[in-house]
Amino acid sequence: MMRNQEMLLIPGPTPVMDSIYDAMASETRSHTDPRFVKIYKHTIEQTRQVFNTDGEVFVVAGSGTIAMEMAIVNTIAEGERLLVVSHGYFGDRFIKLGQAFGIQVDVLQAEWGQQVSPEDIDRKLAEGTYKAVTVTHADTSTGVATDLEAVVPVIKKHGALVIVDGVCASTAMDEDMSKEYGGPGNTLDIVLTGSQKAIGVPPGLALIAFNQTALDARAAMERVPAYYCDIYNWIPIMQDPSKYFATPAVNLIYALEEGLRIVLDEGIESRIGRHQAFGRAVRQSLAVYGMKALASEEVAAPTLSCILYPEGVDDATFRAAMADKGTILSGSLAHLAGKAFRIGHMGNSTAEMLEKAVVQIGETLNEMGLQVDVSKAVEVFSSEIKQVTV
Ligand SMILES: Cc1ncc(COP(=O)(O)O)c(C=O)c1O
Repeated sequence: MMRNQEMLLIPGPTPVMDSIYDAMASETRSHTDPRFVKIYKHTIEQTRQVFNTDGEVFVVAGSGTIAMEMAIVNTIAEGERLLVVSHGYFGDRFIKLGQAFGIQVDVLQAEWGQQVSPEDIDRKLAEGTYKAVTVTHADTSTGVATDLEAVVPVIKKHGALVIVDGVCASTAMDEDMSKEYGGPGNTLDIVLTGSQKAIGVPPGLALIAFNQTALDARAAMERVPAYYCDIYNWIPIMQDPSKYFATPAVNLIYALEEGLRIVLDEGIESRIGRHQAFGRAVRQSLAVYGMKALASEEVAAPTLSCILYPEGVDDATFRAAMADKGTILSGSLAHLAGKAFRIGHMGNSTAEMLEKAVVQIGETLNEMGLQVDVSKAVEVFSSEIKQVTV
């Protein structure tokens, strides 16, 4: 159930369910109150379940970027090398982040809409000793996904840590830290995310998991250039949330407990299948209007799409008309600004909501003077979605 007045179909934050709002509106208690401590402890267990890890997980106040920072500062020392595999704006964020801490950063940047090939990663890693490689599971600027099955074995072959940015992916794409990707021993070392995307909780919490290899990397560093982001300040809290390091975001933790309950009740596997169907249905139905996704079907993320406008559609006019109908879409970033819009199809958004958006998009295009077939688009949407019940 959702009491939201608008359909927030941007690629995060995503629509929030009533039960999450209700949890969030519960009375604010002391962070040391045993009733709160029990809930905090539960969210840490739920996070562990989501990532399926026996390493350490962290749930801290901050946005996804703080989780990116925690990943970097706790594993890569000043002067060590990081390879950034970038499929867009958010991949690129790791460049500045690494540089801010004196890390030697190299980057493999795909043309927007394409993937970096595993062969290019292999070649680059052969050139030197890299401590870690960052990959963005779904880049929110381009709607391009990273194929972990293809990329993780290459990174592991060269002995680097695999750091996965799951901000636009976690709980909607496969990020199983107990799984071997593309061969024995090829595990994800760090997965990080934020609360506001596929998890469907309001923004403000960072979730991050370290496996033993990543924890060993921290142990090998005498000190790290961080205080709030030093995992050694958080491990005692995560193991016993009645202890204090920095005040947890009490009401967001309530919300996260309910958000992760919804995730785990649905089950990660069903959630992954649902998102794949959502992605396909949105892209295929919009194609009926002559709207192409920037990413081809082979590399497209299931959580959001970056959709190129047909000739003659003005971005601001189109999105304002959609907002008038109650549906909020995002513009695009960098050189795609004005040329494409982004639509999120993740978290607790439903097939009904997405179908409604497809109808409204068609109606808006018709109002703008194009002639598109809304019923055909709905037909395509329904046939893509029919294997999932939401
Ligand atoms: C893939 C990805 N990584 C990182 C971030 C940064 O997260 P935040 O804005 O929560 O700091 C975002 C935000 O949209 C993202 O989509």
